[in-house]
Amino acid sequence: MLDRLNHVALAVPDLAAAAARYRETLGATVSAPQPLPEHGVTVVFVDLGNSKVELLEPLGEGSPIAAFLAKNPRGGMHHVCYEVSDIRAARDRLLASGARVLGDGEPKIGAHGRPVLFVHPGDMFGTLTELEEV
Ligand code: CO
Repeated sequence: MLDRLNHVALAVPDLAAAAARYRETLGATVSAPQPLPEHGVTVVFVDLGNSKVELLEPLGEGSPIAAFLAKNPRGGMHHVCYEVSDIRAARDRLLASGARVLGDGEPKIGAHGRPVLFVHPGDMFGTLTELEEV
């Protein structure tokens, strides 16, 4: 059911500074900033070949990463994202096992134009976990 690691997401207080650190200091390929108003974040992706790092900055009022950055003002690891072939089947198995899926439980379209959902960190051993259908 669970396939490859799609990305690790890092919440950062200054997306331009973080993108510059990865691009200019570390020589990585970094995408252009992509605002995702529906998710309350602006993202860039650092291309690592076998996986990606997603850098997240809050966008707008009530961003879901605002509280995280209030607790971690210098930024930090926010979530991991795994690929699944059937996101609704994965969700149903998680719900049947007692795990909580965030929001209304319906997948939303994520940064790659594919359905995503998030599993509560309290049910994933302390790590917010995103599933993306690929
Ligand atoms: Co993500």
